[in-house]
Amino acid sequence: MRVPLIAGNWKMNATVGEAAELVREMLGALNRIDNVEKVVCPPFISLTAVAEIIKGSSVKLGAQNMHFEDRGAYTGEISPLMLAGLCQFVIIGHSERRQYFNETDGIINKKVKAALKAGIEPILCIGEKLEENEAGRMAAVVSRQLELALADIDNLNGTIIAYEPIWAIGTGRSATGQQANETIGLIRQRITNLYGKEAASSIRILYGGSVTADNIADIIKQTDIDGALVGGASLKAEQFISIVRQTAENSGS
Ligand code: 13P
Repeated sequence: MRVPLIAGNWKMNATVGEAAELVREMLGALNRIDNVEKVVCPPFISLTAVAEIIKGSSVKLGAQNMHFEDRGAYTGEISPLMLAGLCQFVIIGHSERRQYFNETDGIINKKVKAALKAGIEPILCIGEKLEENEAGRMAAVVSRQLELALADIDNLNGTIIAYEPIWAIGTGRSATGQQANETIGLIRQRITNLYGKEAASSIRILYGGSVTADNIADIIKQTDIDGALVGGASLKAEQFISIVRQTAENSGS
C-alpha cells in the first residue's frame, strides 16, 4: 500500500515573508486532508520560517537541493547535516539543476547517497527532453538516468522517484495520465530488475510537469502513479489544496 504524496516545488519564488504567508494560507485545509502525504519545498532561506509554521501539523517540509558533502569550503552551498532534522525530504537532480547548474548523473548519485545517509528521503527527478521523446528515446534516457543516479545504492530506504518529462515542465503541456502511467510503469519495471519485486511495489513514483487542479484527477487515478511534484500550481494556495484534495479522492495506487 503506497500512500500518495503531493509535493509543491516552489522553485526560486517567494520571499521569506511571502513563503510564510503562502503556507499559512494553505495549512488549515491541507491539515484536514488525510491519506495523502503533503510536502512543501520552499527556497532554503524560508525553510526555518515554514518549519515553525507547520510544526504540529501533517504538512511536511522538503528542500529543493543540497550539496553531497557534510561540511567544507563550498561557498553558497547547504549540506545534508544542515537539512537533517529540519526537512524530511529533498528534491535531487531536478532537470533545472541538470540544465542550468551542470549537475551530472555522477553528482546526482552522490547527492542521493548523501541524503539517504543523512536520513532525508530523496525525491529523485528523471525525465527526457522533447527531442529525446520525439526520437523515441524516452525509455532509454529514463532508464539510464535511473541506473546512474542509483549506482552502488543497495537499499532504496524511502527513495521517491519523480518522472518529470522536460517538455511538460512549465509549458502547460502535461503528459496525459495514460502516457505518464506507461512511463512510470516502465520505471517500476526497471526498479524490479535492479532491486526486486518487493522494492518495486513499495517505492513511490510521482509525475511532474504542468500538474494543475484541472488534470490531477486523470493523473492520480492511474495505477502506477503515486502522486505529483507540482511547480507553478503549488504557489497558489487554492490550486494546491484542490490538487491534494483530489488526490485523496481519486488515488488509484
Ligand atoms: P510545473 O508544475 O510548473 O510545470 O513544474 C513542474 C516541476 O518542475 C516540479 O518540480
